[in-house]
Amino acid sequence: MTAVAPKSVRTFLMHRRLGRGPLATIKIPADLDNVLNKAWEETRKVPGHLGENEARFLGLLAACVPAKGAIVEIGSFKGRSTVMLANVASRYGFGPVVAIDPHNSPILLNHQANPGVSSYQDFLDSIFAAGVSNHVESHVAYSTDVASSWNRPIRLLWIDGDHSYGGAKKDLDGFFPHLVRLGVVAFHDALNAFPGPIRVFVEDVLGSDRFGPAGFVHSIAWAQFRPEDGHAFREKRSSLARRASRLIPFVESGNELHGMAKRRYKFNRFRVPHSAIDPGHWVSLVDSPPPR
Ligand SMILES: C[S@@+](CC[C@H](N)C(=O)[O-])C[C@H]1O[C@@H](n2cnc3c(N)ncnc32)[C@H](O)[C@@H]1O
Repeated sequence: MTAVAPKSVRTFLMHRRLGRGPLATIKIPADLDNVLNKAWEETRKVPGHLGENEARFLGLLAACVPAKGAIVEIGSFKGRSTVMLANVASRYGFGPVVAIDPHNSPILLNHQANPGVSSYQDFLDSIFAAGVSNHVESHVAYSTDVASSWNRPIRLLWIDGDHSYGGAKKDLDGFFPHLVRLGVVAFHDALNAFPGPIRVFVEDVLGSDRFGPAGFVHSIAWAQFRPEDGHAFREKRSSLARRASRLIPFVESGNELHGMAKRRYKFNRFRVPHSAIDPGHWVSLVDSPPPR
C-alpha cells in the first residue's frame, strides 16, 4: 500500500461558524507529517490488518478532531491502531487512549482448541516497545461492559471490535451518547466483507441528520457528529449512503464471497469514493460551512 504523499507542512487555521455553535478552530500542527511518519514507523512493527493509509488517517483524526474528550478504541488486538493513536495523542496532549478488548478473539488468535490464549501480552509488548504504555488506558473487557458505566465525553470513537451487525451496533449504541459535538466516529473494515461496520455506518450514521461531513478512507468509514447542522449535509450523506448500501446484501450473511458475487461486490466497492486524504483536504471537509 502506498503512503499518503507528504504535503507541505503548514499551519492551517480556519474559523467558521458551525450552525448556532461557537467558532470551530482546526489547526493542523506544523510537525504533523513528522509525527505521523514516526508513529507509522512504530505502528508498522505491530501485527494487524490496518493499512498504512488507514493508520495515517487515524493519526490525523487523533491530532485534528476539533473537540475535547477521550479517544476510545474498541478492539485493540495486538495494538496496531493503539500504537498509532497513542503516539499521536501523547505528542499533542490528548491521551490516554482508552483501549477496550477482551483479548480473546478465537478467529483472530486462531486458537479454537485453546480458549485460554489471549492477545493481551502481545498488546502490552507492542505498546511498551512503542514507548506509549503510559499513554494507554487498557480495559480487558467487552465494549458493552465498559459502556454500561462509561461517563466521559468522547472526541474520537474508533470502532474495530466485533464485526457482526449486532456487535458493531452495540459498540456504536453504547458509546455514541458520549460523543461530543464536532467529535468523530470511525469504523474499520466498513469496505471489507463484514456485515456489521458497513450496515451500521449506512443506517445509523449516514442515515442520521445528527451527522455532517462523512466519508471513507480505504476501509475506514468516518463521520463528524454535527447535531446542530447535520441536516444540511443530508444530500451528501444520502448520496454516499446510496452507493455504500449496495454492499450490504453481499456481506450480510457473513459468508466468504466467491466468484461472481465477489466480483460484483468489488465493483460496487469501487464506486464508493475511498481514496487516501491529506490533512488539508480533511480539514476543509469538516471545517466547511454546511452546504446550501
Ligand atoms: C480486528 S481486531 C482489532 C484490530 C486492531 N484495532 C488493530 O489495529 O490491529 C478485533 C478485536 O476486537 C476484539 N473484540 C471482539 N469483540 C469485542 C467486543 N465486544 N468488545 C471489545 N473488543 C472486542 C477482538 O478480541 C479483537 O482483538
